Amino acid sequence: MKSTSPIPSQAPFDHQAIRDQFPALKQTIGDHHLCYLDTAATSQKPQAVIDAMNEYYQLNNANVHRAAHQLSTRATQQYEAVRQQVAHFINASKSQEIIFTHGTTESINMVAYGLTPQFTPNDIILIDTAAHHANIVPWQELAKRSGATIKPIPLTADAQLDIKAYEQLLQAKPKLVALCHVSNALGTVNPINDLIAMAKNAGALTLVDGAQAVAHLDVDVQNTDCDFYVFSGHKMYGPTGVGILYGRFEQLNTLTPMLTGGEMIKTVSFDRTEYGELPNRLEAGTPAIAEVIGLGAAISFLHGLPREHIHAHEQKLMQYLQAQLLNLGDVSLYGIANDKRQINVGSVAFNLAGEHHQDVGILLDQQAIAVRCGHHCAMPLMNELNLAGCCRASIGIYTNKHDIDQFIQALNTVKELLL
Ligand SMILES: Cc1ncc(COP(=O)(O)O)c(C=O)c1O
Repeated sequence: MKSTSPIPSQAPFDHQAIRDQFPALKQTIGDHHLCYLDTAATSQKPQAVIDAMNEYYQLNNANVHRAAHQLSTRATQQYEAVRQQVAHFINASKSQEIIFTHGTTESINMVAYGLTPQFTPNDIILIDTAAHHANIVPWQELAKRSGATIKPIPLTADAQLDIKAYEQLLQAKPKLVALCHVSNALGTVNPINDLIAMAKNAGALTLVDGAQAVAHLDVDVQNTDCDFYVFSGHKMYGPTGVGILYGRFEQLNTLTPMLTGGEMIKTVSFDRTEYGELPNRLEAGTPAIAEVIGLGAAISFLHGLPREHIHAHEQKLMQYLQAQLLNLGDVSLYGIANDKRQINVGSVAFNLAGEHHQDVGILLDQQAIAVRCGHHCAMPLMNELNLAGCCRASIGIYTNKHDIDQFIQALNTVKELLL
């Protein structure tokens, strides 16, 4: 079975060698090379991930945890090894704190559902105004079930979380604080460790949506000290269909399972069912085995790369992207901190003069530029910014300066056509 060898982390930084591992990026569309600037929606996959999933289906396909035969043993070993890898990747204290889900959305739903019996009509839930709908709607559903109240955490004029307003909201002793680590629409970064410490002081449970962070930043859940941290495999070079719910063991153990059935039980009779231990207790049914194995390959791939070079490369690209957009003229950028204390991570949100974002997106697509246009599943944020929507260009580990130049040139063509 052909498998791409990971690049040793001691090797000199050869960006092209990293990019070469992503087969989808080698294509042309019409007369243009594909310029993929939609990594925040989903990243492209390295060959190693594709190979790992193929290998599972070709050689090891079996259900996990249940059969007596060797294929199942192999599949189970591979599946459980990824749990350890994920625990290591985010520095969880034990692998039972890692629950495989189908994505960030499911992870947050599991927490919101699972905490329901602990909520009363007196409880308050604070939510980041920049949150993705996946980190809003499940809490609204929890509020409907329990009678709890939702309060948004306001933003400052430059679209950063308003720490003073947050401090004030914490005085009401909320039961839970739901934050994003990195905003999917703007690429703004929350000072998550400080925000969590403040929430803890106020006695709140905390959940961090790391969907846009894990591919770009080093995540350490013990250092961050949150109760729950969630993310999706497909935004960090892994496959779709697999996500992670990390929870502090004692907190995870209090969650009522959202899904019940096979795999998650100790004993079942028609009189009563006793649930199993973590992590199985929260993983009912056959999991996404190939996808979990693919996620493991993505983590190995990332581990094989020189992280500090990658961070520096991505930061330089983000600065270049922002500067080139501003140089173009008639472009508004959103979510840029006034004091530039923090470089945005992964994504840049913009509009071209008064043009509709969808028109800009279509004209860019005609030049093989892939960006996302719309409300980015962040309607409350768009309302706050007084926008119907915007375009978002987002980068990944494979993005290079040529991509940015191709994009800017194409946007200039759009500008000449529309303005
Ligand atoms: C910040 C954030 N949270 C949640 C989600 C939902 O992720 P998924 O669709 O993989 O469940 C996304 C996806 O764009 C996101 O960017």
